[in-house]
Amino acid sequence: MPEGGGVPRETPPPFVVPGDSAQAPVEASRVFGDRADRAQAYRDLLATAGVERGLIGPREVPRLWDRHLLNCAYLGEVIDAEASVIDIGSGAGLPGIPLALARPDVQVRLVEPLERRYTFLREAITELGLRDQVAVARGRAEDVRGEFSASVVTARAVAPLSTLYGWALPLVQTGGHLLAIKGRSASDEIAAAAETLLRMGIADTPEIVQVGPDEESGTTVVRVPRGHGPLRAAAAAPLTPKKRAPRGRRR
Ligand SMILES: C[S@@+](CC[C@H](N)C(=O)[O-])C[C@H]1O[C@@H](n2cnc3c(N)ncnc32)[C@H](O)[C@@H]1O
Repeated sequence: MPEGGGVPRETPPPFVVPGDSAQAPVEASRVFGDRADRAQAYRDLLATAGVERGLIGPREVPRLWDRHLLNCAYLGEVIDAEASVIDIGSGAGLPGIPLALARPDVQVRLVEPLERRYTFLREAITELGLRDQVAVARGRAEDVRGEFSASVVTARAVAPLSTLYGWALPLVQTGGHLLAIKGRSASDEIAAAAETLLRMGIADTPEIVQVGPDEESGTTVVRVPRGHGPLRAAAAAPLTPKKRAPRGRRR
């Protein structure tokens, strides 16, 4: 009986949809090792607070493990030991948080402009015990230029390559890479953005790299070398004027 003798309060059930694969697949132990329990906690956070706060669509819940956590963590296969990473447009922490969980040697900074997502990211990092490894900055990639840089910049579902180059490459240290998770559109996007890259002074061709166990369950990544010369600043995407949607509409 609860204190005060009232009606016992029920804990609300976790957000579960039919077919929800809440249990970690065997692959999660391989990828996250002794951090598989933290990966499980992150998955559960996305399935509860992430959905309730509108950061993850409810229909994504059954595929959180494969389409989100594992697909993002596979990026670690193409990141050097002890690299520094900036993940731009992290949203609910993808790919930055799974990557940090899979690669404890890598320092990650998440960059996210929207307040509700930024707040969720800060809470998630604390809850997952990642405060020594993962930092969060609120802002657009263009706004943190000159403030932060890293050997690797990652992005998933943030912008087409023709726009992403201008946002991301100024944050990549010389000799580093942009790693953009892309789907089947990868080669078309590379072709469409080729001129932008040349105008930025990057002569190397981007590479399409497949990470993960196989093509079907793995992830397609576009790897763009930053090169060693200076970027042509004038060609980097101009800073767009700050626009703010009315309060309550952005999430
Ligand atoms: C479709 S969501 C993808 C979120 C996450 N990367 C994922 O794969 O689930 C795009 C994210 O990019 C962020 N974004 C949009 N423009 C941005 C910019 N200029 N710099 C950094 N982030 C940006 C949005 O706020 C949003 O969180």
